[in-house]
Amino acid sequence: MTTIEPKTATKPIQAINVQQQNAALRADILSAVGRVIDHGQFILGPEVEALERQWAALCDTSHAVGVSNGTTALTLTLRALRVKSGDEVITAPNSFIASASAIVHAGARPRFADVGADYNLDPQAVERAITKQTRGIVVVHLGGRPAAMEALGVIAKRHGLWIVEDAAQAPSAKIHGQPVGSFGAAGCFSLHPLKTAGACGDAGIIVTNNGDLADRLRLLRNHGFTSRQEDCAHWGFNARLDAIQAAIVLTKLPHLQGWVTQRRANAAVYRENLPELVTLPPERAENFAVYQTFPILADQRDTLAEHLQSLDISTAVHYRVPMHLLDACVGLGYGVGDFPVAESQATRLLSLPIHEGLNESDILRVCEAVAGFYTR
Ligand SMILES: Cc1ncc(COP(=O)(O)O)c(C=O)c1O
Repeated sequence: MTTIEPKTATKPIQAINVQQQNAALRADILSAVGRVIDHGQFILGPEVEALERQWAALCDTSHAVGVSNGTTALTLTLRALRVKSGDEVITAPNSFIASASAIVHAGARPRFADVGADYNLDPQAVERAITKQTRGIVVVHLGGRPAAMEALGVIAKRHGLWIVEDAAQAPSAKIHGQPVGSFGAAGCFSLHPLKTAGACGDAGIIVTNNGDLADRLRLLRNHGFTSRQEDCAHWGFNARLDAIQAAIVLTKLPHLQGWVTQRRANAAVYRENLPELVTLPPERAENFAVYQTFPILADQRDTLAEHLQSLDISTAVHYRVPMHLLDACVGLGYGVGDFPVAESQATRLLSLPIHEGLNESDILRVCEAVAGFYTR
C-alpha cells in the first residue's frame, strides 16, 4: 500500500513583525504602562525626559525633543528653522509622503531632486535643484541606509543652506561611526509601530546640537508655553510625545542594537545568496546601515512578489509612485520623466523581509524562492 506523505507546512515569512516583537516584550511593556498609570504624569513626565536623554545619547547629540510623531518632528523642525511662505526646501521624490508634506505644512514649497543608485538623494542633482528661494534640504536615509552626508554637507555649506535629516527609518545608523541625525541642523525620527524600536501608537523625536533650536522646538510642541500654561511666547501646537508611548519605547531601546545586529546579519545573507539577476541595495564601506527595509531592484517585480506570496513570503514596495507624480503634488508642476532614476527604480523596487524575527534559514528560503522565480 502506498502512503501519501503529508505536505510539510512551511512557516510564513512576514514582511512585518510588530506582533512578534511586542509579544516577546509583553510583560515589560505592560508593567511600563502600569507605572505611568500609577504615577499619573501623562503629559511630559519622567518617561518622556528619560527617553529624550537616551535618544540624545543614541544619536550623540546634546538635545532630544519628544513629539507626537515623525511627521510632526519634521514639520516643527522646519518651523523652528523659520521656514516661510515662498521658501523652497529640497527633498527626495522616493520617500514616504511625510518628507514632503512636512515642508508644505511648514509653509514652504517642496522642490524634488533625483536620487542615485543608492536610492538616496544624488548630491549633484541637489545642487542643480538649488534656486534663490532654496533655504534647506530634507535628507532622507531611506530604509535605514545613510545618505551621502559628506557631499551633501559640502553643497549645503557652499549655498548657505541648512540640512534636516529625515532619519525616520534609520535610528542608530552611522557614517564613519557618527550617528545619523547628528549631521544636520536637526535629525527627525519616527517611533511609529512599524519602525524597529517603535511605540504602540504614534510617537516621534527630534535631535539637535543647537540649544536655541531645541528650546524653540519645546515651545512649538507645547502651545508656545514658556511656563505652566501662563506665558505663551509664540503660537504653538499640542504636539507632545505621549508618556505611555515614551515608556513603551524605553522598554524597547535596550534591544535596539541586538535587533539591528540581526537585521544586518540577514542583509549579509541576502548579499551572499540572492541571484545576480536582482540588484542589491548599494552599501558604502563607511556606512553602518540598519536595514529598516531591504529593497532590491527586480525585473517583473509584481510577478515576483506574487510568486513569493504563493510561497508564504510577504514583501512590500517602498514606494510604488514617486511623490512628484502623486495627485497631492499636481500644483508643484512636475510630470513623468522629471526624475528618471527615482521613476525607474519605483517600477522595480521590492522590499524583501529583513526584520529581526527572521534568521539565516528564513532568509535562505527567500533567496531560493527568488532564484526559483527567475529559473522557472
Ligand atoms: C522616511 C519617513 N519620514 C517620515 C515619516 C513619518 O513618520 P510618522 O508616521 O511617525 O509621522 C515616516 C514614517 O513612516 C518615514 O518613513
